[in-house]
Amino acid sequence: MSALDAAWSRLEAAGSAARARRIADLFAAEPDRLARLSLTAAGLDIDLSKQPWSLDDLAACLDLARTAGVEAARGRQFAGEVVNASEGRAALHMALRAPSGSAFMAQGEPVSAEIDAMRQRMAAFALAIRSGARKGATGQPFRAVVHVGIGGSDFGPRLVWDALKPLDPAIEVRFVANVDPADMAQALTGLDPAATLVVVVSKTFTTQETMTNAAAARDWLRSALGPAADAQLVAVSAAPEVAQAFGVPADQVFGFRDWVGGRYSVWSSVGLSCVIGLGPEVFERLLAGAAAMDDHFQTAPLAANAPVLLGLAHLFNRNGLGRPVRAVVPYAQRLHLLATFLQQLEMESNGKRVDAQGRPVAHATAQAVFGDAGTNVQHAFFQLMHQGTEVIPTDIIAVREAAEGDPYAQTILLANAIAQAEALMVGRAEAEVRAELAARGTPAAEIGTLAPQRSFPGDRPSAFILLDRLDPERLGALLALYEHKTFVEGIIWGINSFDQWGVELGKSLASRVLDELRGGAAGTHDPSTAALIARLKS
Ligand code: F6P
Repeated sequence: MSALDAAWSRLEAAGSAARARRIADLFAAEPDRLARLSLTAAGLDIDLSKQPWSLDDLAACLDLARTAGVEAARGRQFAGEVVNASEGRAALHMALRAPSGSAFMAQGEPVSAEIDAMRQRMAAFALAIRSGARKGATGQPFRAVVHVGIGGSDFGPRLVWDALKPLDPAIEVRFVANVDPADMAQALTGLDPAATLVVVVSKTFTTQETMTNAAAARDWLRSALGPAADAQLVAVSAAPEVAQAFGVPADQVFGFRDWVGGRYSVWSSVGLSCVIGLGPEVFERLLAGAAAMDDHFQTAPLAANAPVLLGLAHLFNRNGLGRPVRAVVPYAQRLHLLATFLQQLEMESNGKRVDAQGRPVAHATAQAVFGDAGTNVQHAFFQLMHQGTEVIPTDIIAVREAAEGDPYAQTILLANAIAQAEALMVGRAEAEVRAELAARGTPAAEIGTLAPQRSFPGDRPSAFILLDRLDPERLGALLALYEHKTFVEGIIWGINSFDQWGVELGKSLASRVLDELRGGAAGTHDPSTAALIARLKS
């Protein structure tokens, strides 16, 4: 048996042992548990003590990470080597947020000077828009940005804007992703074309949804302002010549390199709409927070390394305990898009069934992720979380100080975050419920049916991440934490976290179906698909 197979066997054995005990009991058995499983990294306080692992299990997980080569892989990634083998690319998003004057290399080519120059160009452009020095085609200052993009060209900027936007922004940023015409209609409603900048964001500048929406936004500008409207088009793309052919003035095309993966791209010029809406200083702070997490990830020993430990906690649930789903619940309305962002980050990165050599993986890979803001979700899916037949581990993210609003409401919010984590782990024993019902004089027959329904099994794990404030630095650190933990898991599973071949088939079939819906010759389909197409053509 190889060393790696042996490490996997130890993890699986640890998972079997974990099934036979309760998380809450580990605190008495391991007096230093809380201290050993709590850490602070780049301004984030992370508590992994409500996870199902014992300290010995953690050692087995760390051994697996070491044996799988996490440290060497991390070194290769930061050195700009090809870690995305199927596309022959580095994955160097860390270079985008490094302090100016850094010396990152992508496949041996220096990239930091180019990145610094792009950051300065974005800042100058944003400041000119924000100050009113740069105006629209009719001489009006800009009041709104419409950001057109999808997937990685949407989720990150949308989340950052939502998390950090002022309550009454001088420049409003709206996002259009879906090709559903309702999305565009809603985004444009109420906006003055003469005061609106359209920022089209697409790495490839070929994505069907984005190109359709970009054309619609361009038509909206042109029909109000005439041909001069194109001066209000901006493009962000790794294919700048295609963006220019679309009509974007050359000096309003912002490039980025192909080693920036879509779901890792918010730190690049893909974040331009946020730079305009929030100001360059805020964006630089976001980058600095992510850079602090990069530094921690690169330098902290594995046993005290936040992305490594968070990744291993998720992996222990996935591979040790067979839990295929995880919830992400930020107790912060401004982070309500976090689960959506993580769905792409984790599921597009690690939703793979073959390894980087094309062989079937030996172990289950990415968890499915879902979630939304607490407390809202307590009134949606928390019934199942507490009493359903599946155990769904949860990441709870809480923010100590409110950015705005009533401090008392903020305290209620925090109380709920803490209480839910406690309730999930501790539960409520049936005997206790029986005793309480009996004390209230409930008839014995009723106690028999009510007590099982009103008791809670508990032993449901959570990771708790606490931010003192939702400031740009901590938001950057939080997103970088999840990026790196996704990388760590991908290395242990032996997969390429930076490609996404699984999105291609649906895209190409959609083109064929579109052709048929628009009158093209009927293709070969299964009976169900053929019937749907026929129905829509009738
Ligand atoms: O969802 C598939 C995908 O290729 C993502 O990886 C990417 O973020 C998104 O489409 C958008 O791609 P583009 O930025 O090229 O328009």
